[in-house]
Amino acid sequence: MEIGVVGSGHVGLVTGACLAEMGHRVICMDDSEEKIEKLRERLMPFYEPELAELVESVTREGRLSFTTDIEETVKASDVLFICVGTPSKEGGEADLSAVEKASTRIAETMDDYRLVVEKSTVPVQTGGWIRRTMEAANRRGVPFDVACNPEFLREGLAVSDFMHPDRVVIGVESKRAEETLTNLYLPLGAPIIVTDIESAEIIKHASNSFLATKISFINAVSVICEKTGADVLKVAEGMGCDGRIGRQFLDAGVGFGGSCFPKDLKAFSRIAENLGYDFKLLKEVERINQEQRTRLVKKLRAELWNLKGKTVGILGLSYKPDTDDMRSAPAIEIVELLEREGATVRAYDPKAMDTAKKILQKVQYCKDPYETADGSDALVILTEWEEFRGLDLAKIKTLLKKAIVIDGRNLLDPDDLRPLGFVYKGVGR
Ligand code: UGA
Repeated sequence: MEIGVVGSGHVGLVTGACLAEMGHRVICMDDSEEKIEKLRERLMPFYEPELAELVESVTREGRLSFTTDIEETVKASDVLFICVGTPSKEGGEADLSAVEKASTRIAETMDDYRLVVEKSTVPVQTGGWIRRTMEAANRRGVPFDVACNPEFLREGLAVSDFMHPDRVVIGVESKRAEETLTNLYLPLGAPIIVTDIESAEIIKHASNSFLATKISFINAVSVICEKTGADVLKVAEGMGCDGRIGRQFLDAGVGFGGSCFPKDLKAFSRIAENLGYDFKLLKEVERINQEQRTRLVKKLRAELWNLKGKTVGILGLSYKPDTDDMRSAPAIEIVELLEREGATVRAYDPKAMDTAKKILQKVQYCKDPYETADGSDALVILTEWEEFRGLDLAKIKTLLKKAIVIDGRNLLDPDDLRPLGFVYKGVGR
């Protein structure tokens, strides 16, 4: 198939590269000249495991190309995926102007049947808006279909999530669109759920909101564990063995961040409001998530008394491991809270320091965990990077001013730290 991807951010680029790997000819388009120039030189605009190698091989084999020209993209493609950004506006609603622009440009340019697939995360009823927008711009009456094919890609695992999905969801209005998308995804061997467009749109927002709810639920349970001496890891294990509950997304910690959960939760809540339903549960999920950040700072205060004049060493800045993404990372709010109280922050992250430097400018960035610990009054873990598991704890103890570890991700084992004389505070244990 000839496929066009409009918007070459995280979702667009992974989708384009993976579809090319499946044997299709793909053209990835983006308005940013700089991004496309870099991609032509095989320089990735962000870090995603396996992606650079994949882009390199499919480009070399001639199945993936890059352009800033939407007309060229529309002319060369039978199927067009809209993967443009849908950032939050003030108030939480998604800004869909890029989706509108892409639909208009596609409709103005197409000279024969096209299938236009929304892949960006959008509020329910966006498919209808795309269709109406295209009808208005499509003065020659060229036939087309609109479909919704939400993505369920986790950053850091996006290539593998694309190639081995739990399910593929396609929301369609015609048999022709259903057949095209079913044939496209059949080789992946995953269950394909065919729905109407609105249901597919809701599946995306409801899935992310549900996962976020699971995280806030276990975080709330972690508070009860702390007050009673129970261990949230054991509680999660015991709950998670029930097939109806499942162990995934029951890791208590400093709460969720990233470009998806916080934004999608707000957007879903806003859609509900616009439809006349007050989805209070989602607001509470968000509130609990915020509280996890302040709870961590409270734990530090409980050990250090005043934070003013103290130095706090932070390990991990990205919103989760295996990414350099800092969007809505818990580290941002926590560092800001610490600095507001007059603490100095030293930090190390294996991948996210370049990004962090643009956001957290007062932080002293260190070359490794040991330099971070050196002279700090306490060490705080905010991202569960694998490399922090194997720290030389005895060495860390000699470098810290006070042997205090606040583990915001329950990464370390208290039984390894306490015998060495550390004060260890995890989340819910
Ligand atoms: C999430 C979803 O998992 C994907 O299915 C979805 O496609 C994507 O959003 C999206 O909408 O594009 P992602 O944001 O990459 O993916 O990251 P997750 O692995 O889901 O983690 C999100 C946040 O939750 C991270 O900050 C992570 O640390 C936190 N988390 C996750 C917890 O605090 N506890 C858990 O048990 C799991």
